[in-house]
Amino acid sequence: MKLAAASFAAVLGASVAVAAPLDPVESLGKSLFFDADLSVNGNQSCSSCHEPEQGFSSPMSEINAAGAVIEGSVPGRFGNRKPPSVAYASPGPVFHHTYEDGEILFVGGAFHDGRATGHQLGSVVADQALGPFVNPAEMALPSLACVVERVCGGDQKDEMEAVWGKDICEISFPTNLAQQCADPDAKIEITDEDLNARLDTAMAAIAKSIAAYEASPEVNRYSSRFDGWQAGTVEFTEEEKRGFALFEDKALCAECHVLDRGPNGEPPLLTDFTFDNLGVPKNPDVPWYTQAAFNPDGKAWIDPGLGGMLRGDPTYAAYAADLMGAQKVPTLRNINKRLAPDVARSYMHNGYFKTLEEVVHFYNTRDTLPRCEGEMKAADAMAAKCWPAPEVEATMNKDELGNLKMTPEEEADLVAFLKTLDDE
Ligand code: HEC
Ligand code: HEC
Repeated sequence: MKLAAASFAAVLGASVAVAAPLDPVESLGKSLFFDADLSVNGNQSCSSCHEPEQGFSSPMSEINAAGAVIEGSVPGRFGNRKPPSVAYASPGPVFHHTYEDGEILFVGGAFHDGRATGHQLGSVVADQALGPFVNPAEMALPSLACVVERVCGGDQKDEMEAVWGKDICEISFPTNLAQQCADPDAKIEITDEDLNARLDTAMAAIAKSIAAYEASPEVNRYSSRFDGWQAGTVEFTEEEKRGFALFEDKALCAECHVLDRGPNGEPPLLTDFTFDNLGVPKNPDVPWYTQAAFNPDGKAWIDPGLGGMLRGDPTYAAYAADLMGAQKVPTLRNINKRLAPDVARSYMHNGYFKTLEEVVHFYNTRDTLPRCEGEMKAADAMAAKCWPAPEVEATMNKDELGNLKMTPEEEADLVAFLKTLDDE
């Protein structure tokens, strides 16, 4: 149903901005997504880090231009990665493995490392929604019980009952819970089994509502110029056409940011939801390096990506070493969308790159330019005509990028094509 509506919007093309009205569960999810009361200090909602007009990524220009990691509800606490787009994440498959040319291939899950597997609630974005509320570097509530308490005791109670049944919020919360929930470091333990079961059910309903909003045609619009061009309602410039041809062929982009349609003809998502290590350098401005309380490794910290997630799983631990530093292939939809033309963006798991020109130049020349000495920002590396060492070298992909032999004109064409992917 939803996918059909989305394809319909795509067929109409960019000239008609159709966003079907939200159904009750999507509408509840939207209200939860924008609700700052669901953070410990009442100052942060999901949308603080995933702003619709910024392609559902971070709208904070100065931070994007530097460390790219957004401060949580508790001042001074930062996580270790940049917020990816929430749009087009919902079609991601439940984390699983398959085989390609006899080699194991991991697919799906949400987060850069796929650790929100979808195995718990059946959807990667529903599983993901269990994370941020209680992440100490994000919304920082001390327990998911606090989320349920605030939702059921707040503005969304009626909507919760209308969507999920009248007893969904019939929960006898411990008397001091609300007070404990104001302290991000409170240790909240609930031992009553019946109470825990009710809390779990209500929390699953909250997460599934958010997931429904994230899967709605309001979030996944398929209304870019690219969609219009595919539908035959929009003309590409010659530059954009050349860029598309490069994307598909010489530049190898579509090997991972795939252009295949979905099983029911859904427009391409520009990701195959697999994982790869591109050899992106460290972003020296990431504030995580100085979060001593959470990051004992300090400056030496290396983002393990998929390898880090696999090493904690007994079935998959044997594959972890080969996948250290592999990050999920993100969608490229909305890749240039901004709240205002001068708002900065950042790219890759650590936000190392700030412009699409830098990204494309990196794919083209990673292995042909000399190594910069030490760490360097992307803009400085561009000027110095070198690239810093990769964050993780051992597992870096050397087959599909690094020496694409593109001319400066071809790089510009490719960037022009990437800029057609923003929803209107
Ligand atoms: C402080 C900023 C911040 C807040 C608040 C926040 N997020 Fe995120 N979000 C991130 C970061 C950073 C990541 C990537 C983390 C990782 O990969 O380890 C992320 C990842 C995601 C993803 C995964 C996308 C993908 O393609 O895998 C989804 C979906 C998402 N967030 C939804 C939400 C929802 C829903 C909320 C509110 C309940 C929320 N976020 C609150 C920063 C934030
Ligand atoms: C081998 C698979 C692969 C190929 C080929 C590839 N990419 Fe990527 N792309 C990725 C992965 C994986 C990431 C995320 C890496 C990270 O976070 O460190 C990514 C990230 C990006 C990003 C940043 C997205 C964001 O939201 O931060 C852009 C832009 C991008 N790719 C464009 C391209 C272009 C243009 C090409 C062709 C020149 C290309 N990619 C080729 C796998 C690939």
